[in-house]
Amino acid sequence: MCRHLAYLGPPVPLARLLTEPPRGLYEQAWQPRRQRYGTVNADGFGVGWYPEPYPREGGTDGRPAGPARERHDGPGDSGDGDETFPRPARYRRAVPVWADENFTELTRAVRSGAVLAAVRSATAGTTQDESAAAPFRDGRWLFSHNGAVPDWTRLPTSLPAAELLAMDARSDSALLWAMTARRLRQGEPPGGALAAVVREVAAARPTARLNFLLTDGRTVAATAWGDTLWYRTGPDHVLVASEPDDAPGQWHEVPDRSLLLATTAGVRVVALRPARNDSRDSEDTIMTESRFTLEDRLPAGYFTESLRADVLAGLGSSPRTLPPKWFYDKRGSDLFEQITRLPEYYPTRAEQEILERRAPEIAELTGAATLVELGSGSSRKTRLLLDALTAAGTLRRYAPLDVSSTALAEAGDAICRDYPQLEVTATVADFEQDLALSDEPGPRLLAFLGSTIGNLDRAQRLAFYRTLSLALSSDDVLLLGADLVKDPDVLVRAYDDTAGVTAEFDKNVLHVLNRELGADFDPAGFDHVALWNTEEERIEMRLRSRTAQTVKIPELDLSLDFAQAEDLRTELSCKFRRETLTEELHDGGFTVRQWWTDAAGRFALLLAVPN
Ligand code: SAH
Ligand code: AVI
Repeated sequence: MCRHLAYLGPPVPLARLLTEPPRGLYEQAWQPRRQRYGTVNADGFGVGWYPEPYPREGGTDGRPAGPARERHDGPGDSGDGDETFPRPARYRRAVPVWADENFTELTRAVRSGAVLAAVRSATAGTTQDESAAAPFRDGRWLFSHNGAVPDWTRLPTSLPAAELLAMDARSDSALLWAMTARRLRQGEPPGGALAAVVREVAAARPTARLNFLLTDGRTVAATAWGDTLWYRTGPDHVLVASEPDDAPGQWHEVPDRSLLLATTAGVRVVALRPARNDSRDSEDTIMTESRFTLEDRLPAGYFTESLRADVLAGLGSSPRTLPPKWFYDKRGSDLFEQITRLPEYYPTRAEQEILERRAPEIAELTGAATLVELGSGSSRKTRLLLDALTAAGTLRRYAPLDVSSTALAEAGDAICRDYPQLEVTATVADFEQDLALSDEPGPRLLAFLGSTIGNLDRAQRLAFYRTLSLALSSDDVLLLGADLVKDPDVLVRAYDDTAGVTAEFDKNVLHVLNRELGADFDPAGFDHVALWNTEEERIEMRLRSRTAQTVKIPELDLSLDFAQAEDLRTELSCKFRRETLTEELHDGGFTVRQWWTDAAGRFALLLAVPN
């Protein structure tokens, strides 16, 4: 029943999205891999794209304008003032996509930064000409439907006769588009409009399949309701499609009965609940079918404004510093995973050893219904807790939180697959700003593993404990992993491995600054240094300038002079002692109840409750 795709990002030739990728939309016309209904999609196809702006002919004002842009002041554009929107162009045919050689040529010549395309398998009794091929269009909106509505000609709708008569084609998809477009014209946001149409139709036709795709060239809204839906993100683009292609890149599956909202800044997936008057039984069914949500709660502009503020404050000060959270883009998260497997980096193995031994006891002591995890990364060790809590029969939800959306999406997907009874609600957030705790089923076990607590200085740790202790209830428990003070040689080796992985991880922050702020750091111009600060009992990772050099950060209008051997401190990794950690937790509002270490006494795992 059709395959569709939407793209937002830098302008690319349409071929890059449609015809070139192995197993891409073009091949899916005759060889879909994950389609749940129907076999081939040979009844037509279409692509809609937003043209790149071009200057007004002879114009001197430099504003992008021209016949491709039109003004929309209708009710559907409320909130946008008198901004202009690009009007999308379309190419649609009623033949199989492989039968149209002109199309393949067109895809090589046309470039766009916002595209919606579909290949069609027609429902019996619907129009067979190109007017029934998606994308459907209204003003700046493009829409496609993958699915079918049984007995659609008798579907009760509140559409006025004039709008029914003005439908683009005689088809269930055109009817669904008329219902959606009416809501958009009335000013409903795209996600709300799609969700409302799904609820309305599903209430009348419970077996309807309603995978929608909607874009205005800046945002994509999509539903997964009866067929497959996937998405893939990069630093500057997002692709949403019925099924993944085989081009390089990590795809994530959207759980059935979900609403997806995407911009180039990120993707949010939320469960689509049925209409309120549906029975309790069907609500339960929906909950188990939409077990994975990924919510992005980072404030708008986090990767620009917060990074800028940190860079201005940290690189403008002496000594120069940067907060370690900026390490963790996709590459940084992957490098950290490699670190955890290095022979010198003992903390992960030591904590794993404690968890292997103590997880059943932790499950018994806490009886947790929700496991919240801060800075969850790959969630690898967490599985020991999930296993024990599942075996104890108390666990209902796993709620990982991390600043790295790619780490969360990968880990969340895998955990959802491997723990079929578990609801997984992942949150992209900065745990120093937003703990994202609300209505999780209690009691809650809040895990903060890996000694990430040691990456905060004492003042930051105290602020963090205080906020956390106030957010927890009396039956919630904190499980904290903390690396202990030990022989400095062992510590320095753990942060300066012979394979050079930690050095690459350290320098990754320079790649992040180059990419996000247009800086011109030469990572080869800096040496990775791991120092043991005896007085503060912490490892300090630094990048030491090999020569006197100037680095420019044009987006901040900054020019930074580094002296030879000048350091930029990129991370603190504080090491703890039992007495002082217990004391600082007490000052922050927690009482330590259990303290376990690995056999060699290198690492501690503790349980603490709010005072
Ligand atoms: N808990 C895992 C991963 C530790 S790596 C383990 O024990 O192996 C640290 C993780 O914390 C990374 O995934 C990083 O993205 C995340 N992180 C670092 N600072 C953060 C912040 N301020 N808010 C949210 N997550 C953060
Ligand atoms: C995530 N954090 C606890 C690690 C640590 O050990 O401080 C990050 C790390 N830095 C270098 N190696 C690992």
